[in-house]
Amino acid sequence: MKNIIFVCSGNTCRSPMAEAIAKSLCNHKDINILSMGIFVYNNLPINENAKLVLQNNNINVSNHVSKPLTLSELENADLILTMEKEQKALLIEFAKANNIKTNNIFTLYEYTLNKDTDIKDPFGSDLTTYNECFNEIYSLVSKINFDNISEETMIGIGSDHGGFHLKEEIIKYLKDNNIPFKDYGTYSTDAVDYPIYGKKVANDVANGTLEKGILICGTGIGISISANKVKGVRAALCHDVFSAKATREHNDANILCMGERVIGVGLALEIVKAFLETPFSNDERHIRRINMIEE
Ligand code: RB5
Repeated sequence: MKNIIFVCSGNTCRSPMAEAIAKSLCNHKDINILSMGIFVYNNLPINENAKLVLQNNNINVSNHVSKPLTLSELENADLILTMEKEQKALLIEFAKANNIKTNNIFTLYEYTLNKDTDIKDPFGSDLTTYNECFNEIYSLVSKINFDNISEETMIGIGSDHGGFHLKEEIIKYLKDNNIPFKDYGTYSTDAVDYPIYGKKVANDVANGTLEKGILICGTGIGISISANKVKGVRAALCHDVFSAKATREHNDANILCMGERVIGVGLALEIVKAFLETPFSNDERHIRRINMIEE
């Protein structure tokens, strides 16, 4: 049985709507769909407007009562989808403090559209606002692939304008090889600042959302310097296959950095392959040295 939990603040508006919509769209008997809240007054019914909007759309609302998300539910969930980034951040903090996995916690926008957007709380608004909120949640939930709910960790990829074209080539490679990834931008060759993209990917590698990252700028240097400022990140600038393998084996590097203006696409893809496929050696001396870096 797989568990998907939609999470919002009070578990009376957004997350119960998402739960009801998901139940109406998912026909897998082995998927348990739930909703819970972070700041919950126990046992409140679903909000009247939320209920009305669901009923108007012929979606069944069972006898919902609000529930707080507990540690054991967080631990047993296969997928957690929050309505806001702040809620995701709180859950990640809670999970980390209790030594449980964080790679299955996403915002609904992030999971379905790779977007950095929150679903606004309609609480206290009129029916029109609830209708809009319903439509927004419906369009996102309908993008969830219930045939493939996994907690597989992803590769995060990001670049500045100087690395944009190589990023697109690597994305093609990841797609062709069915490697799950998340694109952190930038999304064009308009000039941007590489520390922003380095930090975004590095943060998600450090907090466990991503298994590994790939960062590209013109030289690979600025973005690797930026990523390495985040604690827990070991970003390696590699322009040859030997280094990519060695940095996985010796340094357990979790981010690969490259420079689009330095190497060609063919070599870059060989480097990506080596980096993603080479395991850490787990050798005692390498573990000791990595721990020294952390300290
Ligand atoms: C941008 O022109 C360039 O400075 C940047 O992509 C990178 O090479 C920085 O290290």
